[in-house]
Amino acid sequence: MIEPVYSPAPTRYDAMEYRRAGRSGVRIPAVTLGLWHNFGSYKPMQDIKAMAHYAFDKGVCHFDLANNYGPEYGTAEENFGRLMECSFRPYRDELFISTKAGWDMWPGPYGNWGSRKYLMASLDQSLRRMKLDYVDIFYSHRWDPETPLEETMQALVDIVRQGKALYVGLSRYPTDKAREAYQYLAAHDVPCLLYQDRYNIIDRAPQCSGLIDLGEESGTGFISFSPLQQGLLTNRYLNGVPADSRMAKGVFLNKDMLTPTLLHALNGLNELAEKRGQSLAQMALAWLLSDKRVTSVIIGASSVAQIEDNLQALSNTAFDADELRLIEELSAPVQLHSL
Ligand SMILES: NC(=O)c1ccc[n+]([C@@H]2O[C@H](COP(=O)([O-])OP(=O)(O)OC[C@H]3O[C@@H](n4cnc5c(N)ncnc54)[C@H](OP(=O)(O)O)[C@@H]3O)[C@@H](O)[C@H]2O)c1
Repeated sequence: MIEPVYSPAPTRYDAMEYRRAGRSGVRIPAVTLGLWHNFGSYKPMQDIKAMAHYAFDKGVCHFDLANNYGPEYGTAEENFGRLMECSFRPYRDELFISTKAGWDMWPGPYGNWGSRKYLMASLDQSLRRMKLDYVDIFYSHRWDPETPLEETMQALVDIVRQGKALYVGLSRYPTDKAREAYQYLAAHDVPCLLYQDRYNIIDRAPQCSGLIDLGEESGTGFISFSPLQQGLLTNRYLNGVPADSRMAKGVFLNKDMLTPTLLHALNGLNELAEKRGQSLAQMALAWLLSDKRVTSVIIGASSVAQIEDNLQALSNTAFDADELRLIEELSAPVQLHSL
């Protein structure tokens, strides 16, 4: 069967908000689509296409990947390469595509952490899988305590000089190491565009560690991953654990997390969201986006309906003082602060 050629919605830029990434010339959508789960080899290509096309049709032009997203490792990038071939190629200049290296990818001493050897080889592999000449942003995915910081940063600088990435970013760095890294990169004329970390109503680590303030001082934007705490900050688990949920799969979320204290907090937050005329997911995203230092939130999704729900967060990102106080009261017993 011949598939119809994808043609993106002419209205795609009408409703999305674009925020400037730190002190740079580039703006990215307030909502980014992440391909960590649900875009690998276990997901049918027609579902992947439906989610990616829906997102782009709504102005989500930033797609967040990493070398090892899948499962299996590499397959989210391979599927993104298929999307490039079947739909997105004519729109390459409208897309902002990221990838990363820093976690385990292949066996042996050169497939993990932060060496120049790993970062350079990994990006070449990612470009081949994604069928791209360059990515818009390449991240060091985590700080490596055993590789000199200068080596990792110089690899990022050289990757930009080689034209394989337009910008660079960092993820999961301790605050003092992020500060040193920003200084190194700025001194080499490759300022860090984005810092990526987990941040949401119940995980406040980057607020507590000063990473968000540091980004603001340094001209680096902040982009939040797992803004829904992998689905906890939605209605997904309010009445049990659905069979098709991330928690039922049990690798990254497990049922022991659903303590009575957490459920009490989630139910209270859900009631507040309803009063605001939002779903819990929408309120959780709106809470993040109410802070203008948050450049974007990277949502994960297992269906088009979830993306549709999440994008509606943009229609109300304002909170009054009572709502903010209630969010603090409800989330305080379950807040995480550690990196
Ligand atoms: N830099 C890093 O180290 C790092 C680490 C983790 C993630 N990330 C990036 O951040 C992205 C997002 O992470 P995440 O997937 O953990 O994000 P998330 O948005 O917190 O969680 C996504 C999950 O929440 C559920 N969900 C989403 N919208 C929903 C809705 N409206 N109603 C009900 N349930 C909903 C879905 O769970 P079900 O699957 O159960 O339906 C979905 O898979 C990743 O794809 C990746 O790009 C980066």
